[in-house]
Amino acid sequence: MNLEVVRAEARKKLMGICGVYKDCDGSPMRICQGQSYGKYLKFGGIGSGTSFHNNFLAFRKYGLKMKVIGEHFEPDTTYDFFGNKLSLPVMAASVAGVNSFGGESVISEKEFCRSVVLGSKAAGTMGWRGDSYVYSIENSFGLDAIAEADGWGVKIVKPRDQETIIKFFKKAEHAGCIAVGTDVDGCESFAMSAHDIPVFRKKIDDLKELITSTNLPVIIKGIMCVEDAELAYQAGAAAIVVSNHGGRVLDHTPGSLDVLPEIAGQMKGKIKILLDGGVRTGYDVLIALALGAEAVLIGRDIVRAAVGAGIEGVRIHMEYMLKTLAKAMKMTNCKNLSEISSAILV
Ligand SMILES: Cc1cc2nc3c(=O)[nH]c(=O)nc-3n(C[C@H](O)[C@H](O)[C@H](O)COP(=O)(O)O)c2cc1C
Repeated sequence: MNLEVVRAEARKKLMGICGVYKDCDGSPMRICQGQSYGKYLKFGGIGSGTSFHNNFLAFRKYGLKMKVIGEHFEPDTTYDFFGNKLSLPVMAASVAGVNSFGGESVISEKEFCRSVVLGSKAAGTMGWRGDSYVYSIENSFGLDAIAEADGWGVKIVKPRDQETIIKFFKKAEHAGCIAVGTDVDGCESFAMSAHDIPVFRKKIDDLKELITSTNLPVIIKGIMCVEDAELAYQAGAAAIVVSNHGGRVLDHTPGSLDVLPEIAGQMKGKIKILLDGGVRTGYDVLIALALGAEAVLIGRDIVRAAVGAGIEGVRIHMEYMLKTLAKAMKMTNCKNLSEISSAILV
């Protein structure tokens, strides 16, 4: 089994939904794009798909500076995430709702969650779990998988009503989760409201209430401007994820990497900064870290890995990320993550 085999298998199972192209670039020509007009959003980006495409294009604006003369070394890719040592600064994003990529006939929600959480753990890193209208306090597949992994995971809850989010956070504490959070950019989720589960914009006081309701670190995901980053910080959040939700929540946003330098410029040192959207290889990871992210998340590639070969597929994909990151670090003369800076970009 190798990554090519995993992806070939995923290509068969995701026929008509995702082409499992060499580059998952969100180009308007891809079969996943344009699927949301008047219909449920499947695997592409919202509306014209520009936000999804911009995530990918943002990485193409930077080059890596090769620096190969000097002492030989093996790079140390390990990363400390809230006191837990990960093999690399890459985690599986909080993707939920297998209905977006073919439904239960492709992979069940339960198996998808297990693949992401246990496969990431097998590679020495961590899987995050999301939230969808099929999830409830009684039936939360993501938290079940995290409990099976002895709490090795993060649970992100949609911006539902406060009481329900707090109940999810309590359940996450019982499962032993490392952290919890909410994707504040899910406040216009069509899928949730179409199933009579209201979602809301959150005020700073709402965030404070959520953050003080739990003893776990709370992550605010879906930050695309300095103002929101500052409010999340003032509310007491432990981390932010700079993200436009893989281009799935608002048409015509910049790429998440486009806004990272400004946010990192204002917030670095005050709060943990993570990023997702368009990260496909270790080379991309290095660019994101050079621009100020501490770690990154990967979304669609983890879906393809899980659909292709379950737990083993996710493990293989994460190992590919590790190998490419280690290669990129060696070639740019970065011995460990703290040596990565914007000086390696050209
Ligand atoms: C099918 C699908 C479902 C998603 N569901 C969620 C979710 O439930 N919660 C959440 O915070 N983000 C969700 N996301 C967004 C991802 O967490 C992440 O931000 C995004 O996929 C990163 O971009 P990438 O796919 O280019 O790696 C979803 C993304 C996809 C593609």
